Amino acid sequence: MHIITISNGKQFEARSDESLLDAASRGGVSLEHSCRTGRCSSCKCTVAEGSTRALHDELGLSDAERAAGWILSCVRSANSDVSLAIIDLGDVKTHPVRTVPCRIQSLEQLSDDVIKVLLRLPPSNDFAYHAGQYIEVIGRSGLRRSYSMANAPAANGQVELHIRQVPDGAMSQYWFEHAQANDLLRLNGPLGSFFLRNISGLDLVFLATGTGIAPVKAMLEALAGWEQDQRPRQVTVYWGGRKAAGLYCDLGALGVEYRFVPVLSRPDEDWRGARGHVQQALMADLPKLQETMIYACGSDAMIHGARAELTAAGLPEERFRSDAFVCSSAA
Ligand SMILES: Cc1cc2nc3c(=O)[nH]c(=O)nc-3n(C[C@H](O)[C@H](O)[C@H](O)COP(=O)(O)OP(=O)(O)OC[C@H]3O[C@@H](n4cnc5c(N)ncnc54)[C@H](O)[C@@H]3O)c2cc1C
Ligand code: FES
Repeated sequence: MHIITISNGKQFEARSDESLLDAASRGGVSLEHSCRTGRCSSCKCTVAEGSTRALHDELGLSDAERAAGWILSCVRSANSDVSLAIIDLGDVKTHPVRTVPCRIQSLEQLSDDVIKVLLRLPPSNDFAYHAGQYIEVIGRSGLRRSYSMANAPAANGQVELHIRQVPDGAMSQYWFEHAQANDLLRLNGPLGSFFLRNISGLDLVFLATGTGIAPVKAMLEALAGWEQDQRPRQVTVYWGGRKAAGLYCDLGALGVEYRFVPVLSRPDEDWRGARGHVQQALMADLPKLQETMIYACGSDAMIHGARAELTAAGLPEERFRSDAFVCSSAA
């Protein structure tokens, strides 16, 4: 076993055959992460001391980042005692990750290529999660794919998913051609650190593309139950797509006040709303970046672009939290 120390002095033990992220989780230390397959770069950090080994390709790092010594803790293990330049999520209580059976309650077509799936869990279940987190759905053949939960934890325990059809996608074929109410599946979760924390008094901005709106909807629903002194100063949602049809549902009233800005990158001529990318629409609104917290969810391209543009314009790096819907086949 090796001893891993993070910047605020917390320590955990790691075996040489497990990822630093898994070891941290086992040791009760929660680190920022999302995909857990080396693709999204949410778990990026540097090694201050000691030696590590890549368990899989670190696809989420650019050549420049690799050369500058960045690693991805979800696909790296320790070769020795290691000091990591990273801090944990602090006092946030995370919920245990479990695999539980579930059945499809209903399937609803939201647009040509997006469906809403409601999953029901056994009545005895106590599956708990933070709004914004995701689950892996495990099909009958063992195929697993990640999907963000689109609702805040509900009294009836049902979980809502928004699923986009990926052409020739293995799980897409199941959802769009075979899935039926009452089908038995399993889910594994909750996963990821994309949930609301430390936002009191800040301007909270959501940037979403496509089904990236799913966890945003869940977080807005959850915010409605927060104490006033924990809430952000204001909330704005920028939701981007190519065409108007890509903004496939009406978020409507969710119990919390928010400004909604639809953004299209390839709009028809009669479109009167914002044009371009979500981060451009945000910058056009002249945000006070020093007092802003960004939650960005959806395509990898949007997340990389938004992070680069907003931090270059003055957003502190730690105020950009993201969940990239990268391909979730195993690394
Ligand atoms: C943390 C996380 C949360 C996610 N949440 C959602 C969600 O809420 N709703 C949702 O619709 N999807 C979500 N995804 C994506 C989802 O998990 C699947 O990757 C996607 O639905 C494709 O699965 P598939 O089996 O249909 O396609 P696959 O058989 O896995 O892939 C088919 C082909 O498409 C490519 N491909 C697959 N996914 C992507 C992608 N995201 N971008 C570019 N190319 C891709 C593959 O490389 C392959 O060539 C999430 C992914 C992650 C990592
Ligand atoms: S790259 Fe490590 S969590 Fe996504």
